[in-house]
Amino acid sequence: MESNRTKLIELLSNHSDTYVSGESLSKQLGISRSAIWKHMNELKKVGYQIEAVRNKGYRITGVPSELSASSLQWGLSTNWLGKNLIHHKSIDSTQFSGHDLAREDAPHGTVIIADHQTKGRGRLKRQWHSEDKHGLWFTVILRPTSLEPKDANQLTLVAAVALVETFRHLGLDVKIKWPNDVFSRGFKLTGILTEMQAEQDQIEYILLGIGMNINQEREHFPEELRDKVTSLKIETGKANDLAHVFHEVAQRLEEKYDTFIKEGFQPIKREWEQHAYRLNEWLTIKTKDSFQAKFVGIQHDGALLIEDEYGKQTALYSAEIYW
Ligand code: BTN
Repeated sequence: MESNRTKLIELLSNHSDTYVSGESLSKQLGISRSAIWKHMNELKKVGYQIEAVRNKGYRITGVPSELSASSLQWGLSTNWLGKNLIHHKSIDSTQFSGHDLAREDAPHGTVIIADHQTKGRGRLKRQWHSEDKHGLWFTVILRPTSLEPKDANQLTLVAAVALVETFRHLGLDVKIKWPNDVFSRGFKLTGILTEMQAEQDQIEYILLGIGMNINQEREHFPEELRDKVTSLKIETGKANDLAHVFHEVAQRLEEKYDTFIKEGFQPIKREWEQHAYRLNEWLTIKTKDSFQAKFVGIQHDGALLIEDEYGKQTALYSAEIYW
């Protein structure tokens, strides 16, 4: 039942500017026209707006305001990312569920997405604040068979480029702070958490966890975060349809991932550097001691590349940077 409905939404969304006849839908799904009609009524009950015109067929003209697996898949134009999608109203963390599903052989590209996370996780075991229905909190299960575990950290930079391009498409000029935080006017807009399960030199799976602050007002954030974080709504003054933002980001994540797997890190590195915050500026950097260095880009493997006053370059894999 559910899978026919998902297929139906997919078929209609591929032709959202035209009508699809009941006959064609019934042939493609292998179910009767009256079964199609029943599905349409069910879709209407969950908030889809469907136009039915005699002798022409059906067309979806609006999606539900509440997120669901169906509304997230409607209009999704990816080839593999999100084709298997699980939506939760509330969950501890989409990363926890991602680990469970990946161990149970969930396919490459599976997305776990939630309206709300009660134990959203950030990097360095920090908490990630995931306001109910105001952002996109999701995890993608990736199974990159040709990638070596030592290069897996590059995926966070791949994702950062996809996120920047998504925000730019939505009208907001953003930058990436090394390695992967997307910022607007110095405030953090998104977080990326990559977790890997590997054995020796073989990756079993990677979880790409992404948190995007979309429709929050400043008071939605805990007080201690208010001078550090922001949302797309705070930056542009406009509320956004979460399903639409998901479609945009999923499309770009898939594109960038495919480029990375086919062509390696170099094209991504170039794009990353175009979006880098404070490139070619002198910054204070702390490893053991604090010192001044010019940030000149990233190395072929994603490490931070800095230069001293004599032009000598050094690659850093971890460092505290005072932006
Ligand atoms: C960071 O610290 O910047 C990374 C934050 C990552 C948050 C996302 S939200 C979806 C996924 N589930 C989690 O619990 N964390 C990641």
